[in-house]
Amino acid sequence: MRTRRAALAAIASAASLALTLTACGQSSEGGSEEKTESAKGGTIGIAMPTKSSERWIADGNNVVKNLESKGYKTKLVFGEDDPENQVSQIENLITQNVKALIVAAIDNKSLNGVLQQAKDAGIPVIAYDRLILGTPNVDYYASFDNSKVGELQANYIVEKLGLKEGKGPFNIELFAGSNDDNNTKYFFNGAMSVLQPYINDKKLVVKSGQTKLTQVTTLRWDGATAQRRMDDILTRTYTSGRVDAVLSPYDGISIGILSALKSDGYGTKAKPLPVLTGQDAELASVKSIIAGGQTQTVYKDTRELAKVASNMVDAALNGKKPEINDDKTYDNGAKVIPAYLLEPVSVDKTNYEKVLVDGGYYTAADLK
Ligand code: GAL
Repeated sequence: MRTRRAALAAIASAASLALTLTACGQSSEGGSEEKTESAKGGTIGIAMPTKSSERWIADGNNVVKNLESKGYKTKLVFGEDDPENQVSQIENLITQNVKALIVAAIDNKSLNGVLQQAKDAGIPVIAYDRLILGTPNVDYYASFDNSKVGELQANYIVEKLGLKEGKGPFNIELFAGSNDDNNTKYFFNGAMSVLQPYINDKKLVVKSGQTKLTQVTTLRWDGATAQRRMDDILTRTYTSGRVDAVLSPYDGISIGILSALKSDGYGTKAKPLPVLTGQDAELASVKSIIAGGQTQTVYKDTRELAKVASNMVDAALNGKKPEINDDKTYDNGAKVIPAYLLEPVSVDKTNYEKVLVDGGYYTAADLK
């Protein structure tokens, strides 16, 4: 697995280099020379965490598109889930005199040094999707209502199991995201705010006993890591009984969990697949939902997020106040970061067409 990941990382980093070159070297491409000339004179650095998940590729592309439409040039880099790599990428962007930075952190605490350099160079910083912790040198935060993501996943489980109607007890297992991503605790705590009362009432039973966030995180959101943990839980804990629901915070993790379940014989009439949540509406997961594998995902429109972040940059560089709709929730340990939070949407088999296809996120052909 290591080797495969390493190989994938190498391919991805070569691809990301190519993308960087395209995005920075030829920023007039797709627009006229004139457009480049009339650019407000600035290049914006965009640091995304990884290309191993399609959402970040879409995020990167959408941010580039938005900024270019506002007359900026862009430099887009992907850190391939390596925090040190991301730090040096951002250092490079600063050396190249970017006017502002948009950063989706890999490790929320690893960027303090480099963001001090940004501050010293007078570069505003937007935390993108994931809050950066422990530094005052973050100007704005663009994200989704992260607690709501967890609530949507948990409410879906509650509804599908009929818990409000008093059904149960049911067995559930819990998964969370990467422990170095600030979003992880928001997703998990949001979900647990809904699930905990049922666990207290023994209507939901976590048979593995693994209920604390520290026991259920998945480093770097890695699907294979989640698959191994699910395999282990099934082997050790479910010698009798079966899993009725799995709280999964992210589609890549859900796909790993699904593989473990299928290897254990789930997916038949006698042993149906559990209710299985997710997040990001990634193509593989939406297809799985349609095929009756994964049950739900939480859709976050990356086009909207890119727009919000680009507007923040534009406002910050023009001495204006960006639009903010939350100035309380996101204390990063150094200060409360003014944020704009978008609304996530729960998607399953019943509404994917309306939300994802009619909404233009995917075409019907993409989902075939
Ligand atoms: C989180 C993000 C999720 C998901 C996850 C794994 O920070 O909010 O939507 O993408 O990372 O990439």
